[in-house]
Amino acid sequence: MINKTCFGAMPDGTDIDAYCLVNQNNVSVNILSLGAIIQSWKIGSLPEVDIVLGFDTVEEYLTDGNYVGTVVGRYANRIAQGRFSLGQGTFELASNQGPHCLHGGIDGFHHRVWRVTQVQEGDKPSITLALISEDGDQGFPGQLEARVTYQLTQDDTLRITYEATSDSDTVFNPTQHSYFNLGGHDNGETRHNLVQVCAEHYTPADQDSIPTGEIRAVDNTVFDLTEPKELAALMAQQDPQVVATNGLDHNWCLDGFEKDQSKNRKVATLIDPVSKRTLEVSSTMPGIQVYNANFLGEGTRGKGGAQYGPYHAVCLETQFYPDTPNKPEFPNAVLKKGQTFISRTDYQLILE
Ligand code: GLA
Repeated sequence: MINKTCFGAMPDGTDIDAYCLVNQNNVSVNILSLGAIIQSWKIGSLPEVDIVLGFDTVEEYLTDGNYVGTVVGRYANRIAQGRFSLGQGTFELASNQGPHCLHGGIDGFHHRVWRVTQVQEGDKPSITLALISEDGDQGFPGQLEARVTYQLTQDDTLRITYEATSDSDTVFNPTQHSYFNLGGHDNGETRHNLVQVCAEHYTPADQDSIPTGEIRAVDNTVFDLTEPKELAALMAQQDPQVVATNGLDHNWCLDGFEKDQSKNRKVATLIDPVSKRTLEVSSTMPGIQVYNANFLGEGTRGKGGAQYGPYHAVCLETQFYPDTPNKPEFPNAVLKKGQTFISRTDYQLILE
């Protein structure tokens, strides 16, 4: 089932619609035409539990600087010095984190109004949203047509499919920036959560979170999450890389990508031992940024007046590695003219 409601309006009067996908277990995911945002993700229990952070109004989303629930583009994560070369061209981007370009630049996809192109009822309700990003948007080459489809299955999986084409060679790296708190969006800290990442390697980064280029084995490091680890225990180890970012904000090189680049592989698991809820992530992408909301401001006002703060959530952002356009040794994020980019990420909620 899909319920469409009006969520609000942009400052110029454009309506922002909400499409709520509901399955037979009463799991419901509310998607906005603003930023293709996942505004709520309620599980079919009473009292109702909403497992993603979010806001109640368009205004709050437009002033949010944390990408809460949004689809991020054109390039999720960082491009060093806001610059890269492709073919004969060098492209200067709209830098928004010191000299670097984060999450697509000053005016990334997260605050754009997406066009709803398809709404499909049935036992796998789905919605497709589309966006045209003009040639030169935030400095990126090529007119890009991007689409994102959210589909909710009866086994409580939200399947996200990203597609894009461009009229000249470009780079593309979309992600979903939901802040998960499996205990409920208003349930406070998540440092007692366990995280598992199916990765034998990660990309060490400099003080600006730009990868050094090295692909380092996780063996005997705090980044070995091949077995589930508690976030608090991990942070207590005071690894300089983790201290530098006040927690996790790092990219893992997901196993199995090189072998089959179109295969949807299990990539990560988030476990809340208190609520006994688990989120399983699978993806076709080569990397994942695990970010435990280290920079979410204390007292950020969220849905229903909830107070959010650091460590109140975990983001599991599937992606190409950060700064791939400047790192030829990383799996490349180039989208060639005339080709169609397709990637998929599934988030499955498992209730005990
Ligand atoms: C990503 C980045 C973080 C931070 C958040 C948004 O996860 O890696 O450093 O910018 O997005 O606040």
